[in-house]
Amino acid sequence: MAEAVEFRLNATEWRFITGAAAIDGVPPPAGPEIAFAGRSNVGKSSLINKIAGNRNVARVSNTPGRTQQVNFFSVGERLTVADLPGYGYAAAPKETVAGWTELIRLYLKGRVPLRQVMLLIDGRHGIKPNDVEIMDLLDSAAVPYQVILTKADKLKRGESERMRAATENALRKHPAARPEVLVTSAEDGTGIEALRALISTLAE
Ligand code: GTP
Ligand code: MG
Repeated sequence: MAEAVEFRLNATEWRFITGAAAIDGVPPPAGPEIAFAGRSNVGKSSLINKIAGNRNVARVSNTPGRTQQVNFFSVGERLTVADLPGYGYAAAPKETVAGWTELIRLYLKGRVPLRQVMLLIDGRHGIKPNDVEIMDLLDSAAVPYQVILTKADKLKRGESERMRAATENALRKHPAARPEVLVTSAEDGTGIEALRALISTLAE
């Protein structure tokens, strides 16, 4: 019988490996990897901290553009988690934004150990044109992705259900997207156990 050892993300050590400001700074592959991607300020770093059960793993800020490189974490030596810079941040200098976007695109389409992308969408705003660009890139590179609605605590239950249904409907055009959308909040914990369970299945 296969041994079912539960991999509990919040009871496992998260060790910072390195931050890559350009694609040549990305570390050598070390087992399965997942990445958190999404528009600037959508809540990528906050969600990582929440699933880790430690608010200090990834840096969070009210100001968009907090995460300025791809930050890699080793989780119990069984999974690598990458926290990406946000895309679509208009207030940073043009070259900076272009550099991050290029890094995100190169990483997402060329990273060999990347098993799945967690694509975060603000639950209040839904899918935006620059999200569709990333979804198209992932579809054409055949990288599976899980769409996650964030900041559910800001929505009434009916609103988040409607947004979930509309988002799932839009995903039917995207072959690499998992069909079910997760609704989460790093604030009140909505959807966190489901997300941890999903991520555990991707670890070695
Ligand atoms: P960049 O690194 O700049 O791309 O941002 P990010 O996507 O990593 O977002 P970050 O986690 O830094 O959070 C941005 C802001 O949203 C912070 O002020 C967070 O406190 C807030 N935030 C994140 N998640 C939630 C949530 O679930 N609910 C609420 N209400 N606020 C959240
Ligand atoms: Mg961040």
